[in-house]
Amino acid sequence: MNMIKRIGILTGGGDCCGLNQTIRGIVYRSRDFNYEIFGIHDGWKGLVEGLISPITLMDVEELVDKAGTFLGSSRTNPYKIKGGVKNVLRTIKNYGLDAIIAMGGEDTLGVANRLFKEEKINIVGAPKTMDNDLSGTDFTFGFDSSVTRAVEAMRSLEDTGRSHHRVMILEVMGRHAGWVALFTGMACGADWILIPEYETDIDEMCKQLQRVYTRKKYALVVTSEGVNLSTSEKKEELDQFGHMILKERGVGNQLNKIICEKTGLEVRHAVIGHMQRGGITTVFDRILGLRCGVTAVDLIAQEKFGYMAALKGNELIGVPLEEAVSKLKTVDEKWWKLTQVIFK
Ligand code: F6P
Repeated sequence: MNMIKRIGILTGGGDCCGLNQTIRGIVYRSRDFNYEIFGIHDGWKGLVEGLISPITLMDVEELVDKAGTFLGSSRTNPYKIKGGVKNVLRTIKNYGLDAIIAMGGEDTLGVANRLFKEEKINIVGAPKTMDNDLSGTDFTFGFDSSVTRAVEAMRSLEDTGRSHHRVMILEVMGRHAGWVALFTGMACGADWILIPEYETDIDEMCKQLQRVYTRKKYALVVTSEGVNLSTSEKKEELDQFGHMILKERGVGNQLNKIICEKTGLEVRHAVIGHMQRGGITTVFDRILGLRCGVTAVDLIAQEKFGYMAALKGNELIGVPLEEAVSKLKTVDEKWWKLTQVIFK
C-alpha cells in the first residue's frame, strides 16, 4: 500500500456526458483503498483559487445517468495566469492532496502533464471529450452521447425534410476534429459530410445532393462547425488554450446559401450546439465513465503517476499522459474512405 491518503479530483474544459459517471467511479473505487476524495471546483481554476470541498458517496451515488459535471468546469489554464502555477502548488499543499485526478481533453491533460513533469505532482488523467480527439485512447467518454444526441436531432430534421422536399443541414460541434460529424453522418445516413480535416469539393457535393434528391426528394448533410468554407481567414476570439471561440461563424448558414445557389433546391439548416453536450448519458458512456474512474484510482494505487486511463480494444489500461497529449487525434484516411462509400 502506498502513502496516498487524500486525492483531489477535477473536471476541466467543455463538459460532456460521462464526467459524473467517472467521478462516481472514482469515489466508489477509492473506498476500497480508504482514500479520501476532495472535489476541486471548476477545473484548474479550483486549484488556482482554492475552491475545494470533500466528496462522499452520498454526493455521487445518484449520478449514474446525469450529464454535466457535478464539480463544475472552466477553461482556465494556470500557465496563462500570473502566479497561477504557484497558487496551484500552494492549494495542493494547503489541502494535503497527495494525488490529483484530472478529467479532461488535451488542454486539461496538457496542463496535468506539465505539472507532473515540471512540478513532480502525482497526477493521473481520465479521457473526457465529446470531440473524441484525444490520442492514446480508442474512445473518450462523452463522444457516444453527443453523437447519439446529434443523430436524434437529424432524425427530426429528416422528418420535416422529407415532408417539404428540402435539403436539411445539421451543424454539429467539432472545432478541429470531425469525429462527431463523421459518426453522426454515418449513423443517420447522411448524403454528404463535411469535416475540418478534408477539404470539400463543393461541385461534387452539389452533384451528389442533386442525385440523391432525384431519388428520394430530400437530402441530408452533416457538417462540423470547424469547417472553413471561406477563402479569407476571419479573425476569431481565442480562449486560454488558444482555440477559436466559434460563436458566430455559422458554417451551416454558409452552406445553406451555397447549396441553394448552386442547386436551386430548397435548403434549411439547424445548429445543435450545446444541446449536444447534455441530456441522458448513453449506456456506453455510463460504463466507460465508470471504468475510467475505477482505472484512474487503480493507477494511483499502483503509483503510476503521469498516466491516463485509456480504452484500448475492450480493455482499460494506463497510457502515459505524454502520449495522450502529444498530438490531436483527427479523422484518418481509413475512416474518411469509409464515409465515401455511402455517398452514391
Ligand atoms: O469541448 C470541445 C467543444 O465541445 C467544441 O467542440 C466546441 O466548439 C466547444 O467545446 C464549445 O465550447 P464552449 O462551451 O466554451 O462554447
